[in-house]
Amino acid sequence: MTPPIAPRGCFVTGTDTEVGKTRISAALLHWCVSQGWRSIGFKPVAAGLEQVSGRWINADVQALRQASSAVPLTDAEVGPYQFRAACAPHIAAALESRAIDFEVLLRAARQLAPQSDALVVEGVGGFVVPLTADRDTADLAQALGLPVVLVVGLRLGCINHALLTAESVRARGLQLAGWVGNTVDPAMPWVDDNIVTLRQLLMKRHGAVDLGRVPRLPNPSPQAILSHLDPAGLRQVFDR
Ligand SMILES: Nc1ncnc2c1ncn2[C@@H]1O[C@H](COP(=O)(O)OP(=O)(O)OP(=O)(O)O)[C@@H](O)[C@H]1O
Ligand SMILES: [Mg+2]
Repeated sequence: MTPPIAPRGCFVTGTDTEVGKTRISAALLHWCVSQGWRSIGFKPVAAGLEQVSGRWINADVQALRQASSAVPLTDAEVGPYQFRAACAPHIAAALESRAIDFEVLLRAARQLAPQSDALVVEGVGGFVVPLTADRDTADLAQALGLPVVLVVGLRLGCINHALLTAESVRARGLQLAGWVGNTVDPAMPWVDDNIVTLRQLLMKRHGAVDLGRVPRLPNPSPQAILSHLDPAGLRQVFDR
């Protein structure tokens, strides 16, 4: 297995796109900062730009940069590839007649890692999303060698998605260190029973710690999300 790129950190993946990876990553960074660590967020590939005050920005990159501490970081350092269209990354790149260079991603990560005591990398969409013709996000996670945190979007079908992702993480030789249940559908039936099943199976099969369950919040700020996460679990993830 590749040695971890940073002394401490994690690769945050999700059961799907739009399940709360950015919100949870920002909360993890907030916790790392509270530990006194130089903490840096990294979004290798971001798809979806909006124009704010005449500038094109990506919301994920902004959120991770704002939750980071340590050195002042530029948007380009936190998000080396940012594409206009909000769609699959290799398609978003092609729409601009560009392509993602895997080596550029690794170089960007290698530049940030030594400046940090904790590096939080937000994946792109789910765990196995194509980036180039022959590389995907799981290859990237593998190359970074960080423990993986899975954001489970709590809605019907999430148990299967979580277990499939966990198997894929293991197949890449990575450790699924922990998981967070994030409420996507507040009306999900039998949510408590789903949580019990996830907790049991993810621990028994993968040794993954339950880091907490986050309700649908009126303002999902890093602080508000963090109040629903378990500090003992976070310590386990980041002290690996
Ligand atoms: N617990 C929550 N309470 C309220 N809103 C939330 C919560 N979690 C996420 N959201 C909102 O849901 C949307 C999707 O969340 P987020 O952007 O974190 O997902 P993502 O997995 O990072 O998506 P992507 O795959 O596009 O990177 C955002 O508008 C976010 O503010
Ligand atoms: Mg995101």
